[in-house]
Amino acid sequence: MPVPGPGYSITVRVEAPPSASAAGDLTSAVGRVGGVITAFDVVESHSDRVVVDITCNAMSANHARDITEALEALPGVAVRKVSDRTFLMHLGGKIEVSAKVALRNRDDLSRAYTPGVARICQAIAENPDDARRLTIKRNTVAVVTDGSAVLGLGNLGPAAALPVMEGKAALFKKFAGVDAWPVCLDTQDTEEIIRAVELIAPVYGGINLEDIAAPRCFEIEARLRDKLDIPVFHDDQHGTAICVVGALRNALRVVGKSLTDARIVVCGVGAAGSAIIRLLLHRDPADVVAVDINGIVHRGRENMDANMAWVAENTNKAGISGTLHDALVGADVFIGVSAPNLFGAEQVATMAADPVVFALANPDPEIDPLEAQKHAAVVATGRSDYPNQINNVLAFPGVFRGLLDAQARGITDAMLLAAADAIADIVDDDRLNASFIVPSVFDAAVAPAVADAVRKAAGAQSG
Ligand SMILES: NC(=O)c1ccc[n+]([C@@H]2O[C@H](COP(=O)([O-])OP(=O)(O)OC[C@H]3O[C@@H](n4cnc5c(N)ncnc54)[C@H](O)[C@@H]3O)[C@@H](O)[C@H]2O)c1
Repeated sequence: MPVPGPGYSITVRVEAPPSASAAGDLTSAVGRVGGVITAFDVVESHSDRVVVDITCNAMSANHARDITEALEALPGVAVRKVSDRTFLMHLGGKIEVSAKVALRNRDDLSRAYTPGVARICQAIAENPDDARRLTIKRNTVAVVTDGSAVLGLGNLGPAAALPVMEGKAALFKKFAGVDAWPVCLDTQDTEEIIRAVELIAPVYGGINLEDIAAPRCFEIEARLRDKLDIPVFHDDQHGTAICVVGALRNALRVVGKSLTDARIVVCGVGAAGSAIIRLLLHRDPADVVAVDINGIVHRGRENMDANMAWVAENTNKAGISGTLHDALVGADVFIGVSAPNLFGAEQVATMAADPVVFALANPDPEIDPLEAQKHAAVVATGRSDYPNQINNVLAFPGVFRGLLDAQARGITDAMLLAAADAIADIVDDDRLNASFIVPSVFDAAVAPAVADAVRKAAGAQSG
């Protein structure tokens, strides 16, 4: 059941009579149709009328229209303008370039630009590694997409993906001081994407692939990792895997189980699910059973691509086949990165004692969290309106901060696992409980801790 939220927030400018009851009439009208008022500002006052900005959260675009109509229906009230606050936030984009050096006079200009800059160019030509010290490469990441899997919306193309990539860049800056820049490519051809990223790589200290559909994303990442001397990270895969592995460690702490004894069902073997499985297997769980739209993944299954064949080979020790519901029987953990509404409380009841349920499909999880809570000991989702939000922003800013600081030339699973542990460790024993297995995305301690862990793991790698 959706609730009014800031994603659908509007400001309605209305003219109303200056009566004593005007404010009450306006706020009641919004409340009657289910809007939630967050601000009420009188912007003009006259002897015969007041002009008021009413800001409120709605549930959808249609609901926002209902709210506007409810105001307009009041006697003597006229709606002057409706502003969608989310669209306003995106006007002209969300990020900008700003100069780090002052350009006040000829002296500044001669050093920042020509002729002084020529000596910097020559130094880099002689020693290309100096680009990591003397240019933006030191702190800059490309956020690369082909727009083929934008959020849960599908193949919207590169231009429509840009608001997401700008948002990602803003998060990089806010949480870890990383300068990230969107690179939305007007191609969905694997070879062209690889070549384009290869061609732009000199500018960047890392590549963050984003919203590129599976299975293409696996090949693009693997080939770029081979070709480039900077880390290549696909956030939809590894950012998710880091957060899930960290959160799972804490969920199992809550229920007093060890990962090596846990039987884990991973539903969804796309970008997120495959990476979760691969990272989890480093921790030696008792078993992982993967399930996709065609049921349980097992060795004899037909028509598997290379990724699925690997998953089949490395999971499902008992060789079972069947449906998601079959897989859940006796399982200690469910991790869903698949599709909405796949099971209910009755299937959770078939899991082992004190089961852990991570239902991460966005925006609607595999099971309604309130249903899951009937039998599960710990429930997590990707949503901000429930406890235990598994959100990649816990991982990617700190991961790249650490990689850039270490001037890392690649990224390893050891670094991903170090990041997962750093996120889990932020939640100490005093704070850990079934509703608090991961820190808040606004916890300022997270990114530095993740960065530190990745830096150390990178040091161990090169040392
Ligand atoms: N932190 C988070 O909360 C987080 C992170 C990443 C992904 N997700 C969510 O996970 C979901 C999957 O993301 P992705 O990028 O891996 O997508 P994807 O398209 O790469 O993979 C989807 C997978 O789900 C499977 N699937 C689809 N319908 C199914 C069904 N009815 N039963 C079983 N399996 C089914 C598909 O076979 C496929 O393996 C999305 O909803 C995404 O929003 C959440």
